[in-house]
Amino acid sequence: MPLAFHHLALQCHDLARCERFYVEVLGLPVLRRWPREGGGDRSVWLGVGDGFLALERAEEPPAPSEFRHGAAGLHLVALRIAPSERLAWEARLAAAGAPVVHRTRYTLYVRDPEGNRVGLSHHPEEAPVTFLRRRYGQDNWAYLLAEEGDAVLVDPGDAEAGLALAAEAGVAGARVRAILHTHGHLDHSGGSDALRRRLSVPVMGHAADSAWFAPDRDLASERQLRLGALEVEVIPAPGHTPGSLLFRWGGRLLTGDTLFRGGSGNCRHGGDPRRLAHTFLETLGALDGALEVHPGHDYGARNLPFVLDLEPGNAEARLALEEVRGARERGEDPPPATLARERAVNPFLRAGEPAVSAALARGGAAPAPGEETFLALRRLRDSW
Ligand SMILES: [Fe+2]
Repeated sequence: MPLAFHHLALQCHDLARCERFYVEVLGLPVLRRWPREGGGDRSVWLGVGDGFLALERAEEPPAPSEFRHGAAGLHLVALRIAPSERLAWEARLAAAGAPVVHRTRYTLYVRDPEGNRVGLSHHPEEAPVTFLRRRYGQDNWAYLLAEEGDAVLVDPGDAEAGLALAAEAGVAGARVRAILHTHGHLDHSGGSDALRRRLSVPVMGHAADSAWFAPDRDLASERQLRLGALEVEVIPAPGHTPGSLLFRWGGRLLTGDTLFRGGSGNCRHGGDPRRLAHTFLETLGALDGALEVHPGHDYGARNLPFVLDLEPGNAEARLALEEVRGARERGEDPPPATLARERAVNPFLRAGEPAVSAALARGGAAPAPGEETFLALRRLRDSW
């Protein structure tokens, strides 16, 4: 017979206090009690699904220990919660004096009154997050990322667009903690000063772009940004500007003006095409193809005809152009592409492939695959 979960036993010095935590705070039902000679309980069994949790009286108090440590022998009671209940559980535990001490994408961890580790897990389901996008100006996009009540604005180049996103997140119970910039150009950072004052939050970005904006926190050497419950990976991507960054949040990649649908950012305003080539060939080339790409501008309808002019046989690019034009006719924003799909469409991401160099030759000598091909593509696009 294969093994199934039967029960887990915890030794508790103060059994009554432990029982109150599991019964009153976590809501487990009492199945049965085992009396002790001389009064009180020797053991209390609490129902957990098909099994049970046995709280057993111990003589000695528990030894204090780190939540996670290197020694073997770590046991954890992990109980299932619904992802939609995660926020409510956080609040309930804090109110009960047992605040969450460790969080992961799928699990909240607390300690019971005796220090035993308890996890509330919704694996493999993701906790609900809020991801908002708002168009401003002609074709700019500002974004809002929110998780468990904490939100950040990304590239609110227009203060009104940023405030509208913050208000929308507020309805979902999230408060803006910071403003992040993918780069300094004013169509992305122009709303910052007003928003910094209105929302009383810091502005964060790479100080190499300080010709355009002054970050309160320089992200030059930060790779993992933790803002409340939100965790954002910061990926340096110089080229469009010296301080360009990519932000990765869960399965999403915010690319600013570095990577667009069917194209790359230009280098006319403080950029460097050789650095951009390296960002494309090395940094973007190494990222997971399953990431959803969210650029700073809706440029698909401009870029994809260039791709088809260069590669008339690129069926993925043709499909992408139909998708972008269809969305525009319906008055909708185009759906995001994954990085894998963008690689099939976008020749800048394929500058290392001989087929792209060959497409650029047009009767003359083909540039070498890699940096030379990227630079030739960038020059051709600039004059196209
Ligand atoms: Fe830009």
